[in-house]
This record gives sequence, C-alpha cells and structure tokens, in this order.
Amino acid sequence: MTAQSITAQQTYLQVLPPDLDRARLPKHVAVIMDGNGRWAKQRGLPRIMGHRRGVDTLKDLLRCCRDWGVEALTAYAFSTENWGRPLEEVDFLMTLFERVLRQELREMMSENVRIQFVGNLQALPSSLQDEITKAVETTRNNPGIQFTVATNYGGRQEILQACRSIATKVQQGLIDPSEIDEALFERHLYTAGNSDPDLLIRTSGEMRISNFLLWQVAYAELYVTDTLWPDFNRAEFHQALSAYQQRDRRFGKV
Ligand code: IPE
Ligand code: IPE
Ligand code: MG
Repeated sequence: MTAQSITAQQTYLQVLPPDLDRARLPKHVAVIMDGNGRWAKQRGLPRIMGHRRGVDTLKDLLRCCRDWGVEALTAYAFSTENWGRPLEEVDFLMTLFERVLRQELREMMSENVRIQFVGNLQALPSSLQDEITKAVETTRNNPGIQFTVATNYGGRQEILQACRSIATKVQQGLIDPSEIDEALFERHLYTAGNSDPDLLIRTSGEMRISNFLLWQVAYAELYVTDTLWPDFNRAEFHQALSAYQQRDRRFGKV
C-alpha cells in the first residue's frame, strides 16, 4: 500500500464504514477477548506480553465503538475460572488492570466513557477494588458510551447470587414468589439496568461461551473469528458488524 492509501484506510476507519447501516448497528456489543497467550507464544514471548497487547486492542475497540455509534461495550477481562492459572499470570493481570485503570481515567473522562464492572468484585485485591470504585464513581454521570468490564465474572455465579438475593427478600416478606419474572430477576443480576448484548464476538476460534453472560446472551448473535485478540482491529470489527447486519434476528418468530 502507498502511504496515501494507508492514510485513506485509516481515515475511512475513523467513521462508520459506508456499507454498514447506522440504523441497524448492534446497540450493545460484548467481547470474549481470547487468544492473548497464543499470540505471545507464536512470537516466542511470555504470555503476559499478549495481555499487554490485548489492552491496546481493547482501548481501540472502545474508541471505535464510540466513533461508529455503538452505545455499549462489554468486555470479558477475567473469569471466575481464570484463578486456576499460574499465580504469576494472575498477579500480572490484577496489577495490569489496576495500572490501566489508573492511567486511563483521565482519557475516559475526556471521552465521556461511563465505566462499570460486573463480577464478584469483593474477591479482587483491595488496591484494585479501590481503583474500580474511583473509576466508576468518577465516570458515573458521563453521557457517552457505557463500558462494562467483566472481572472475576462467572455467569453461573451471577445467577446464583441473584437467586440468593431474591430468596432472602422472599424470606423477609418483601417479594412474593409469584412476582418473580424476567424483569425482576434481571434487576438482581450484576448487569441490572443494562440492555442485553445484541452481538457477542469471540476471538481466537473457540466455539464456546466460557461462562460469560449466560442469562444475557439468550438472543445475542454469535460471531467467532480465528483472529487472536491482540490482532483484532477496526477492519476485523467491521467484518463482525457486516456479518451481524446480514443476520435475520427472528426471536422465535417467523
Ligand atoms: C484471554 O487470552 C485473556 C484472559 C483470559 C485473561 P488467554 O490468556 O486466554 O489466551 P489463550 O487462550 O491462552 O491464547
Ligand atoms: C474466557 O477465556 C475468559 C476471558 C476472556 C476473560 P478463557 O481462555 O479463560 O476460556 P477457555 O478456558 O478457553 O474456555
Ligand atoms: Mg484463552
């Protein structure tokens, strides 16, 4: 590519690509950011280098969602099962999350991002919890994109904690069992108040949900790409959105 066409490509990707229909964009995109370890391994690097690169990918995807008009992005950063990884990797990730949050807060404010976390946050290191509280409180009233980070998140655990919380209210006489419907249940999930994802993207080829948003993805369109997370860029996101716009979302109807 000539220098001129590279610039043309970059400018073109700053705005919604013209073949996409703005009116039929997913309002909420969720991503399972997988493949950091494989990306690093392919380059003879330690796994943590893949995680570091993965942060850059996420930052650009968030900006891209904002540039193109997607209203909400949810990213799976750490699952309840990821505690089973080597201690060094877990420690690295916790420190990385904390550092990135601290470094990016100012940028999130200037870009009007509203950050939120879902998961069992009490089990995270307390210094990370402090950064989370600060970022959530500081960005709470920002009118821009809703950015949700799933950290120490498990879909089954989320459903169980909702059940426990509802059961407690029933026991206290605050709720009658006949009142438990989908809307009430949703209000007890970590994601209370958020719309369900319209599009769920998983990178690095695995055809599974890995305990992510089990309740919320009931009718999400699934898109799996072989591209490893650190290589997922705007052109890849464009492809995912094109595929999404070709889907016929029937929601059980004909
Ligand atoms: C995803 O990449 C990041 C996290 C789960 C934190 P992986 O670390 O799972 O990368 P692979 O799947 O081993 O390549
Ligand atoms: C899912 O990726 C969790 C995150 C992206 C945070 P994993 O790499 O943990 O999933 P599995 O182990 O392949 O199912
Ligand atoms: Mg993985």
